[in-house]
Amino acid sequence: MSKLKDKVAVVTGASKGIGAAIAKSLAAEGASVVVNYASSRAGADKVVAEIEAAGGKAVAVGGDIAKAAEAQAIVDAAVERFGRLDILVNNSGVYEFAPLEAITEEQFHRQFNVNVLGLLLTTQAAAKHLGEGASIINIGSLATRIVPPASAVYAGTKGAVDAITGVLAQELGPRKIRVNAVNPGLIETEGVHTAGVIGSDLETLTVTKTPLGRIGQPKDIASIVTFLASDDSYWLTGEQLVAAGGMR
Ligand SMILES: NC(=O)c1ccc[n+]([C@@H]2O[C@H](COP(=O)([O-])OP(=O)(O)OC[C@H]3O[C@@H](n4cnc5c(N)ncnc54)[C@H](OP(=O)(O)O)[C@@H]3O)[C@@H](O)[C@H]2O)c1
Repeated sequence: MSKLKDKVAVVTGASKGIGAAIAKSLAAEGASVVVNYASSRAGADKVVAEIEAAGGKAVAVGGDIAKAAEAQAIVDAAVERFGRLDILVNNSGVYEFAPLEAITEEQFHRQFNVNVLGLLLTTQAAAKHLGEGASIINIGSLATRIVPPASAVYAGTKGAVDAITGVLAQELGPRKIRVNAVNPGLIETEGVHTAGVIGSDLETLTVTKTPLGRIGQPKDIASIVTFLASDDSYWLTGEQLVAAGGMR
């Protein structure tokens, strides 16, 4: 398994959840991976250790993607450590659910700063290093299609991610850099556990509405991202792949 041999990837928010699974999947296909974290150094170190134990290459790099200098430093670490950059996975994201009357400026800025501004800053920083054949994968959300109540701010950030994916596919296409999005349905991660979703009515409802009959696991998304990172998907750009076991 070496579809990504000699490639170098940055995965933001790879200390846990979907990002950790993506980092491990890319490394299993031969990519050297920058495992970014914001606060969970131990989580990122564990992901790096697992990759190295399996014979892969990875380094943990801290940094807040919502700050331009830190986003640049995360990306530059790939070039400094591994000599190049081919794949950027914009996975870092925060979610906080509130009905209209409970939305605050703080919640708005926190979610838009990480999910939208951070994605743009990281992509801007990475684009300086990316060459022909590079692949950028943005993690969006099914929330932009099923528009669940109390998700106005979060779904708003992911609607922006959908639009940005299309725009940047246009802007970077002439450089032969592809930009796609994977939009997961409910995935069991640390963040979702913390948000109280697991064991709630929302989980039950999701399973009921999912043709494949379960919620997702991080590796369900990681394999799709790995496909988009590889040359197997060379004719795809500007796409949003909904990855939700058939839920719509
Ligand atoms: N889980 C789902 O059901 C689901 C569904 C659809 C879409 N998504 C999207 O999938 C992505 C990952 O979700 P998840 O459930 O795996 O989340 P998670 O378990 O909460 O992990 C979030 C990751 O993002 C990182 N992060 C947060 N703020 C950051 C910042 N300012 N700079 C850099 N990294 C930052 C965290 O780093 P630290 O831990 O180091 O702070 C962590 O590694 C998000 O974009 C989310 O919106 C998730």
